[in-house]
Order: sequence, then C-alpha cells, then structure tokens
Amino acid sequence: MDRSVEIELIDDLLGLQAQTPPFLDEQWHRESLERYYSPDIFRREQAQISARLPQIIAHGSALPEPNAYLTTEVAGRPVLLTRNEDGAVQAFFNVCRHRSAKMVREHEGCEHRFRCPYHGWTWNNIGDLIGVPHEKTGFPGLDRSEFGLVPLPCQEYAGWIWLSLDSDSGIEVEHHLGDIRHDLLAMDAGSHKIFATETREIKANWNILVEGGIEAYHFRVAHKNNIADLFPDNLSSCHSYGPHLRSILPRTTLASLADQPREQWRLRDHANILYSFFPGAQFLVQSDHFVWIRGIPLGPDHTRLELSTLVPGSENTLAKQEYWRKNHAFTVLTLDEDFQLAEDIQSGLASGANSHLNFGRFEGALDTFNRIVDQAIA
Ligand code: FES
Ligand SMILES: [Fe+2]
Repeated sequence: MDRSVEIELIDDLLGLQAQTPPFLDEQWHRESLERYYSPDIFRREQAQISARLPQIIAHGSALPEPNAYLTTEVAGRPVLLTRNEDGAVQAFFNVCRHRSAKMVREHEGCEHRFRCPYHGWTWNNIGDLIGVPHEKTGFPGLDRSEFGLVPLPCQEYAGWIWLSLDSDSGIEVEHHLGDIRHDLLAMDAGSHKIFATETREIKANWNILVEGGIEAYHFRVAHKNNIADLFPDNLSSCHSYGPHLRSILPRTTLASLADQPREQWRLRDHANILYSFFPGAQFLVQSDHFVWIRGIPLGPDHTRLELSTLVPGSENTLAKQEYWRKNHAFTVLTLDEDFQLAEDIQSGLASGANSHLNFGRFEGALDTFNRIVDQAIA
C-alpha cells in the first residue's frame, strides 16, 4: 500500500483508540435472511459473480515449470490450467471435445499432452487437437482446428493466476482491482511460497464466512482462548475500493506508535490487515507472512475453503520452519472457531427463530459487503 495511505490508516486507528471513532455507522442495521440460504439468490450469485468476475484460482508456484498443469473447479465448471513451453499460463475447460468426458482427472502434474481417458482423443498443452483414434473411418473430413480445447480468459498478475469464465468479456485484472491493486502488488506474492494448505468443507453460506472476518466485535468473546488478548476490544476500520474491502484489525501494540516518529510506523507490525478481494479471495496480512483464504461456494449453505500460509521464499532455516508451522497452526485454530460459528449461524437461520440479523454501528463493514453483493447480482 502507499506509504501515505499507511500513515493515514494508522492515524485513523489511533483516533479510534482516542475515542473519536470515524468508523461508526449512523444507525445500526437489520439485514434480511434470504441471502444466506435462498437457492435462487445463490444461482444469481454463481451466474453474476463466480462465473463472470476475474478471480484468483492459484498461486503462480502451483505451475512451477513449463508443461506443469493443474485441475480445479470454478463455479462448478471443471478447469485445466497449463504452463506452456514459453512459460505462459493458459486455461481451458477440462472437458473433452468428443463427448464431454473429463479430460484430466489428476489434480496436478507435468505433461505436454493430454489424452482423454474415454476414447483417447489427445490435445497438446496449448489446446490443439493432435490425435483422434480411427479418425479417417469414424470422422471423415474432421477439421481438427475446430476441436481445440475450449480456452478460458486467464492472466498471471501480482504472483497469482486469475481466471474468468466469461469468454465474451475476457479478463482485465488491473481494471477489476482498481486502486487496491497497489496493495496486492506490495504483498509481493511472487517472492513468497506456500508453506502449508488446509481445506475445509463448511456447512455455511459463503457470505457468512466473509462477514466473520471483517469485524472485531467478536474477538473478545469468540476468541477468548487465543487471540483476544492481542487486540483491543471491538476496534476495527474498513475501507471499500469498488467491490474490494480492506479491513484493519489493530493490535494492542498499535497505541505505542503515538509516541514514535511517524517514519518508523509500520502498520502490519501492529495490526492484522484483512483484504477481501471480490469475489472469493481473502488475505490476512501479518507482520512477516500472510494467509490466503480461497472461498469456493458450493451451495446456498455449503462452502469449501482453502487456507494457505505464504512465507518469504528465502527463509528456509529449521527454526523458521518451526516458527511458520506454529503460526499456521495458530491461524487455523482461530479460523476454525469462526467456521464453527458460521455453521451454528447457518443452522440458526434455518430454525426460523429470527426474521433478521442485526449489525451494530461498528459492524458496518458487513452491510457494505452485502451491498457489494447486491450490486453484483442486480
Ligand atoms: S469423450 Fe473424450 S475421447 Fe471420447
Ligand atoms: Fe474471528
């Protein structure tokens, strides 16, 4: 992030601690419940958000060398990512052009050609059809150039691999990010490596899981056994950049900056910075590493999460490995508390006990996020 923005954010947060809070909404807010369980709203979210907007689907290191590939799913569609001989990343539907079998079943590997497991049609890793068993007999006159793998818009940017399912609009990651791109670039993901990844299948709507990370009201109670003492009670700020959010959750040590020269202020030493890059990617930036949370909505009340800790690529000592391992475990322990609460909320919603949820004046980020989703599916 820009240095001037960093100083401004710290000023805001010190102001919050001095009881001149700029981050209180005028009113508290009531939110209706349908967005958290309606199959119709979920279908619209999938169509207008997950299947239309650029999103991060992998760290660049997931395709470490020419001919590396990986398979994944985006909005329920099977996707194949390849890195070609020239090092460029390409994306295709992982679907055979003969009779639509899944082309590649493995999760990752290194291949320069892919043979469909059903009848053996074969493509190279830039999507050209290069083999059809019994072609002359079965498919006389077949023009192979019309049967390449179906490409998808894909771009490698800021150390991440981005994909869109919207072939008509292509992909413009910088445009999608707007001004928040400077923060993403400053994280320098390309010089980091993934230390560990864990996957969770959570019985909760994806919106509830995002909301769980963008307020500090719950820290003192929900996280009383681990992080609560690191943070002042119920203190956070949130700024939106188009559909993206930057939430700052200051630590108790932030107050000490008031007595230090501004040139020495470094926000990430005294706060957790949580970015919500719309849709589907959250980054929890801490002093010397960050955590990437990839949210994959599977149904109105069902979400897969992949939690990855990224650490500087140069720091490989045994002592550092142990330090990262502890950090990763601590983060996962804390997030698992949030996920349990999200599942509890989802079943609470289904009970019919409430007609609305209530967001306090200091929980305004949740309302902001819900309006972003509303706008995206309008
Ligand atoms: S479905 Fe792939 S070769 Fe037949
Ligand atoms: Fe939490």
